[in-house]
Amino acid sequence: MSLLLNRNTFGNRTNAGNVLTKQEAETLFTEWVLNPRLQLHMKQVAALMKAWAAAKENLNDADQWRWETAGLLHDADWDQWPDLHCKKIIEELEKRNVDPEIIRAIASHGHLYFGVEPETKMDKMLYAFDELSGLVHAYSLMRPNGYEGMDVKGVKKRLKEKSFAANVSREDITDACTRAGIALEDLISFIIPIQTGVN
Ligand SMILES: [Fe+2]
Ligand SMILES: [Fe+2]
Repeated sequence: MSLLLNRNTFGNRTNAGNVLTKQEAETLFTEWVLNPRLQLHMKQVAALMKAWAAAKENLNDADQWRWETAGLLHDADWDQWPDLHCKKIIEELEKRNVDPEIIRAIASHGHLYFGVEPETKMDKMLYAFDELSGLVHAYSLMRPNGYEGMDVKGVKKRLKEKSFAANVSREDITDACTRAGIALEDLISFIIPIQTGVN
């Protein structure tokens, strides 16, 4: 089964700036994603995208929400329609005339599967946060105090242990950091405090 999207343009340029309201995004999220673990993952990535847009890209509230939406909905179809990941959510957002940049970011969050290269900053950060966020969360679950006292060194140690969170692709993480031009350490130290507040 292939998840390749076989296309490289998404949405309509005339829809630039169009977003779902918080209520619309929330409704789609809760209707499509029933698995609480996946919901948490998506909320964590959403928080990271928003925080990055604010702190590192100096974007305004409207743009922060665009970044947050990409994070919040990137795996929206994975729970109920894994064979259609991420074709289904992309088509849904196209139908709703959502900003093409948001749709493109979602389409490129797994370039090895979907065949869409991360190009924009939003694309690259979504790709970078996706796997690493999952590994950091898995680490928090095995620590007696969860996120409390977690440091970069500990996360890097877990990354080196191939058997730990084995489904998290180390190659993707390295590749994503290179593409985003960010040191792994910096990305980890950004993730820990943000993710601490989302659980
Ligand atoms: Fe995904
Ligand atoms: Fe994901």
